Amino acid sequence: MKFFIDTANLDQIKEAQDLGVLDGVTTNPSLMAKEGITGKDNIFKHYRKICELVDGDVSAEVIATDFEGMVREGEELAELHEQIVVKIPMIKEGVKALKYFSDKGIKTNCTLVFSAGQALLAAKAGATYVSPFIGRLDDISTDGMNLIAEIRLIYDNYGFETEILAASVRHTMHVIECAKLGADVMTGGLSAIEGLLNHPLTDIGLEKFLADYNKGNK
Ligand code: E4P
Repeated sequence: MKFFIDTANLDQIKEAQDLGVLDGVTTNPSLMAKEGITGKDNIFKHYRKICELVDGDVSAEVIATDFEGMVREGEELAELHEQIVVKIPMIKEGVKALKYFSDKGIKTNCTLVFSAGQALLAAKAGATYVSPFIGRLDDISTDGMNLIAEIRLIYDNYGFETEILAASVRHTMHVIECAKLGADVMTGGLSAIEGLLNHPLTDIGLEKFLADYNKGNK
């Protein structure tokens, strides 16, 4: 399972990268705005900085909602760095853009996916990644994890190569459940990644080991 971090915050990206388990980064316009990154030049510069910090794929989202606009923006984004993955919303024009980029060998991430039907379309259009938003489904009392299971089943039935990128991951249990269901990738905040470290028995055990060592090695 690949671990992506879902942020545009350079310190957090660096921290996850330094842990040695990071496979990529996802961003979206809200995450860029949260870091105060505005204006095309600054946004592009920021994407380059992110690419220089990590070894893996970095999703950069288009703002256009028409096919021509998405193609224009996506091509500009893809030229920024070889690690850029063009993130495209699951709308009719987006499906056309996914197919266009797939035919050109440019990686894509189909975002804002909330149903198995949408995920099927994204795979048919050749998306590299499909991003079902599990946290946002949970927010409206719909089981986000059930969607991951449905997409896994459908993709396996037909051997689709599109990777299931579980997005809107909010906590460690989302990560564990996604791993059990066979999601290829998860993207979440630093706390969802670092939270996997924690267990009280580890802390208690380490404290005891060190205390016993210190007793005999004064
Ligand atoms: C990632 O690709 C998505 O944009 C992100 O995971 C959405 O997460 P949120 O629902 O916590 O905003």
